[in-house]
Amino acid sequence: MFDLIVKGGTLPDGRVADIGIRGDRIIEVGRIEAEAGAVIDATGDLVSPPFVDPHFHMDAVLSYGLPRVNASGTLLEGISLWGELREQASVDDMVARALRYCDWAVSMGLLAIRTHVDTTPDHLRGVTAMLEVQRTVAPYLDLQLVAFPQDGLYRSPTGRQNVLRALDMGVGVVGGIPHFERTMEEGAESLCDLARIAAERGLMWDVHCDETDDPQSRHVETMAREVVRHGLGARAAGSHLTSMHSMDNYYVSKLIPLIAESGMTAIPNPLINITLQGRHDSYPKRRGLTRVRELQAAGVTVGWGQDCVLDPWYSLGTADMLDVAFMGLHVAQMTHPEEMARCFRMVTQDNASIMGLHDYGLVPGGLASLVVLDAGSPVEALRLRPDRLAVVSKGRIVAQKQRNDTRLALPERPEQVRRRHGGAA
Ligand code: FE2
Repeated sequence: MFDLIVKGGTLPDGRVADIGIRGDRIIEVGRIEAEAGAVIDATGDLVSPPFVDPHFHMDAVLSYGLPRVNASGTLLEGISLWGELREQASVDDMVARALRYCDWAVSMGLLAIRTHVDTTPDHLRGVTAMLEVQRTVAPYLDLQLVAFPQDGLYRSPTGRQNVLRALDMGVGVVGGIPHFERTMEEGAESLCDLARIAAERGLMWDVHCDETDDPQSRHVETMAREVVRHGLGARAAGSHLTSMHSMDNYYVSKLIPLIAESGMTAIPNPLINITLQGRHDSYPKRRGLTRVRELQAAGVTVGWGQDCVLDPWYSLGTADMLDVAFMGLHVAQMTHPEEMARCFRMVTQDNASIMGLHDYGLVPGGLASLVVLDAGSPVEALRLRPDRLAVVSKGRIVAQKQRNDTRLALPERPEQVRRRHGGAA
């Protein structure tokens, strides 16, 4: 007897299987004849482990236009607008916006998010708000918080002290922003400092690293060395790494093996990087995405992050990790069938491993969290970004949606119900 059975779905690896769930765990994957308290018929649909976003800013989400829109479209104007907004926003404002976004996320099958929380202001209202959101959504959404010194660890007078205060309050991941410190030297120093803090406290480390078009911004080299020095391995992630796009190939031929040796992971954010980077270029304009395929070829785990939705940096967004993967696929030119399938894995399995989600996956003993998509395969899901027909989190159905078929009545054509864009059902 199961509490819930998801019947007849196609798993990301192509197998057709039933999934038997009891409590918050998957008990069986295969052909199941037993009774269940509830059944989801997933025949012909893709059943995937949930989407995971390893890079987000939930303290700023859904604030687009506050206090005004980003007219230049640059990272720097975004940071400056956010500097005003974080002084105006109350804890309640931030909690309300974040919870609304978490509702969107759940409806899209996005059930784990790592969010950077700005620790720059001494009032730390963002930290207070995000800890409250983390507690509220814990029954259905895993939220990891990163202590992020947006204005610099040293450049802001209380930057370092506030990162430590946030960690003491319960924030679980150490952040960083070396390219925003006053000099390259201070950026490198900040990395040594932050790596030591992460190692001493046994925490993960996720750095906004080299989010610039300047090919001389080489902080990722120092970061990788610190990861090796402290043995942080996959507990460390380099977010953005956009300067690698513009670096000299010879230098990169030394850098990528160093990153691979360290065991650290990488999180490019294609929606935001394609819009923010290259703004100082005339033509050709650089794409501002790090070297995804080359890093993967060297064995580095690379995920896709969303970064922003409707905030001072990005004016669109829907909480759909398939949008993120779709953009990444295009910008990184990952069009081979294996690369497209990889893009789907990046927003599911690879992102989960970056966040250290150990009981993730559609296997017996795994956490009973999954999403049923109106698609037949991961590549079709990327092509369609289809409806999420059902979302299960920790054994509970948390979202359901009617299938959205179109009835066609055309002259000289048979009447038909068009299911998906692939053809008639
Ligand atoms: Fe970010």
